[in-house]
Amino acid sequence: MLQEKIQQYTKEIEAFNPKSADDAEAFRLKFLVTKGIVRNLFEAFKTVPAEEKRVLGKVLNEFKQLAESRYAAFQEQFSSASSASKHAQYDLTLPGEGFAVGSRHPLSLVRKEIVEIFKKLGFTVAEGPEIEDDWHNFTALNFPPEHPARDMQDTFFIKKQEGNDIALRTHTSSVQVRMMENGTPPFRSIMPGRVYRNEAISARAHCFFHQVEGLYIDEGVSFSDLKQTLYYFVQELFGADTQVRFRPSYFPFTEPSAEMDISCTICKGKGCQLCKQTGWVEILGCGMVDPNVLENCGIDSTKYSGFAFGMGIERITNLKYEIKDLRLFSENDVRFLSQFDTELI
Ligand code: PHE
Repeated sequence: MLQEKIQQYTKEIEAFNPKSADDAEAFRLKFLVTKGIVRNLFEAFKTVPAEEKRVLGKVLNEFKQLAESRYAAFQEQFSSASSASKHAQYDLTLPGEGFAVGSRHPLSLVRKEIVEIFKKLGFTVAEGPEIEDDWHNFTALNFPPEHPARDMQDTFFIKKQEGNDIALRTHTSSVQVRMMENGTPPFRSIMPGRVYRNEAISARAHCFFHQVEGLYIDEGVSFSDLKQTLYYFVQELFGADTQVRFRPSYFPFTEPSAEMDISCTICKGKGCQLCKQTGWVEILGCGMVDPNVLENCGIDSTKYSGFAFGMGIERITNLKYEIKDLRLFSENDVRFLSQFDTELI
């Protein structure tokens, strides 16, 4: 009886041809677990008459070894197959994940645009130090000693020095002074850069901002050159339908001086919140360089004349992108910054 059963199971095992790890597992559950066939046969073996035990014991042991070795072979087969199928889960032809390239800061984008426009008119780019002395930031620019801009309120002083305090520059006009002192006319340059003013930080004011100032000095430069240059600039930056107007103003270093407004870029002059219903927004200060400034910088004011202008890049950026809170520019919030086009150069 028992021998017949063993022969029958032996045939079954030899014919068993698993197709998957699941089939191999079914084999194990059938033959090799505690209540499986091999154990059952050993239980049955206990009741076999003693004279049959010697022969049958050998047969049974061979059967057990056969079941175990077959199962070991199946395991081998499917473990290597399964690691091969794991590899198949990765499609190596898919593109990689790549690196996220950041985006240009909106102020950099607008500065670049401004620089490009003036380059077309032959203006070069000049730079200078952010820590300045009183001479370059104020005195050479014809600031009277009692001018309020020299007060602690507006200027971050670094060091009080007899007659020549050291401060963070309040405008890039200081670069114009350095340029005029160190060269000979004609000058035709713009001065982009960061400037500092001691103001309480709010949506509309910050303790630093960015400027592009400009200087054009040559023989016979007139106010009409100033107007045409700035008119061209505005048309290039904001579009051909943009209007300009000049209002008389005061700067210590220019005479005459003006404030330039453009027709509101949002409502096109009809009146809106941005332009406070006036249809106009102020974008820059300008004027003819005061002869005192030319003389302070060693330039013959009877021979040369010129104009200067200065604008805040934040202001222009607000007009282009309608950014209502200045603080966004320096908070480094990626949700804000990533809204601007990525440019690699
Ligand atoms: N320096 C002035 C400012 O910072 C701007 C300006 C420059 C005005 C040149 C007139 C001429 O406000």
